[in-house]
Amino acid sequence: MSELAYVNGVFCDPADAKVSIEDRGFQFADGVYEVLVAPGGRLFRAAEHLERLRRSCEAIDLQVDFDALDLSAVIREGISRSGFEDVMVYVQITRGVVPRDHVYPDGLTPTVVATFKPKPVHDDAFRRTGVALETAQDIRWARCSVKSIALLPNVMLKQAARRRGRFDAVLVGPDGNVREASCANIFAITGGTLRTPPPDEQILHGVTRAYILECARDLGIPTEEAELPVADLLAADEVFISSTTMDIMPVATIDDQTIGAGQAGPVTWRLLERFRRNLTKGV
Ligand code: PDD
Repeated sequence: MSELAYVNGVFCDPADAKVSIEDRGFQFADGVYEVLVAPGGRLFRAAEHLERLRRSCEAIDLQVDFDALDLSAVIREGISRSGFEDVMVYVQITRGVVPRDHVYPDGLTPTVVATFKPKPVHDDAFRRTGVALETAQDIRWARCSVKSIALLPNVMLKQAARRRGRFDAVLVGPDGNVREASCANIFAITGGTLRTPPPDEQILHGVTRAYILECARDLGIPTEEAELPVADLLAADEVFISSTTMDIMPVATIDDQTIGAGQAGPVTWRLLERFRRNLTKGV
């Protein structure tokens, strides 16, 4: 078992994985990415992740021959070579290597890299306690549905939250509506209804988010994808955030205000259990 990298068709030790300093990913953050997991070696919703990667490429005019690349085979091979039980896969495609100029020529060969590492572990005791969040003005660009590698605003916001002892930031638009966390989607439960902001250009259309909405429907929990004012978030019975690497992470406080009972709530936990049961069946 060892961490593994992949660079333009070749699997290698991460220490030997190299990309040119003239790669546009390095110079301009001109690229897109995906994070997938394979609990028990079985990929979770790979088709949805690869479809979103395709959409991200299209959105930034990055032409990739996905048939020739056969990312699905690359990812499966990497998972099997790494030998980890629960794997986290990072895939990044950038526009390629060319002398630095904002304008790019046609016909560049994209740079494709991937890494295969153990999936991060969040134990249930930690989840039961719930995490602290803080609200912050969303300072990102206007195309947040694109999974761009340009993550400086996300990095700054999460780092600032961590400095203040919070787990993450909740990004709020100028209209006072909640969007998402720095690298996760957000949900609130109010009077038994599961609420989450709509899948527009202000948020990433999370694969986990979509899956949680399915789990809720399976459980007969009413769902609402609509604007979520900060005041409603703070007054919610339960709040949680979701991402591929965390699954469902309950929230205990926001801006030091206690949410519900100040720990993982019952609806959140039902969703988490449903999520896991379906996972072991393969989804
Ligand atoms: N982040 N919103 C943002 C801004 C994200 O970066 C992510 C994922 C999500 C959740 O999407 P999904 O459920 O498809 O993972 C929402 C990944 C895990 C990351 O950047 O590491």
